[in-house]
Amino acid sequence: MSSYMVNSAVTVPGLAAMKSRGEKIVALTAYDATFAQLLDGAGVDVTLVGDSLGMVVQGHATTLSTTIDEMVYHTRCVARGNKRALLVADLPFMTYPTPERAAENAARLIREGHAQMVKLEGGRSKADIVRFLVGQGIPVCGHLGLLPQSINQLGTYLVQGKDDRSGQTLLEDALLLQEAGAGLLVIECVPATLGEEVSSAVDIPVIGIGAGAGCDGQVLVLHDMLGLGVGKRPRFVKDFMEEAGDIPSALLAYAQAVRNGSFPAQEHCF
Ligand code: KIV
Repeated sequence: MSSYMVNSAVTVPGLAAMKSRGEKIVALTAYDATFAQLLDGAGVDVTLVGDSLGMVVQGHATTLSTTIDEMVYHTRCVARGNKRALLVADLPFMTYPTPERAAENAARLIREGHAQMVKLEGGRSKADIVRFLVGQGIPVCGHLGLLPQSINQLGTYLVQGKDDRSGQTLLEDALLLQEAGAGLLVIECVPATLGEEVSSAVDIPVIGIGAGAGCDGQVLVLHDMLGLGVGKRPRFVKDFMEEAGDIPSALLAYAQAVRNGSFPAQEHCF
């Protein structure tokens, strides 16, 4: 029997055990109870209430407008439909400028939204915040590579870590986040070689999005993998609806493709 058919809740240590067994972790975003239930039915391991909700649900051009109240509301909706997956929720833009503010907002996501882990963007500059949250018993997922909350500094959504120096910085950031106590790491839009290097260098599971097949798991924005994205489809996205025909089959096809290593293929990598 495959592990994803076991009807027991996924935990942070459970994800670490999957990494050590070499089992790929399947992650997707969700923003409401109906989709949370469908993801659970497909055996998704990690359901992320991303601040991408500001873009795909609310129609904003960036994630910067997403508020903590909106994140709490949508996390609570997702929690009602979720039974098995680990429920991770994003701390939105400027809700974690200090350890204390981060803890207050993370506590809302956990207490009111029923999240089991919070995600925040950034490397060494966020290590103290991660350490503080973990010290309060709050599991933290880091997010490195392309940081959508820094879009006004970046200027455009570009592949990160392409030269040796920025690749080395990202690798160091991953180690620093691990040392600060992060239990999971998302890496977005980096060369596949770097995604693999970081995944081998750290003990915590690394979930890639546009970071190659060498990561310990994969995540996509739900609307993208269902072919509902607006504008040009990013290279790292595969539309699983094209072949599946209906949503539950597309979700199952995605979970299977991540587990058997056929997604991402070369054509989805940088
Ligand atoms: O907000 C989000 O959906 C995310 C994913 C892109 C990982 O952070």
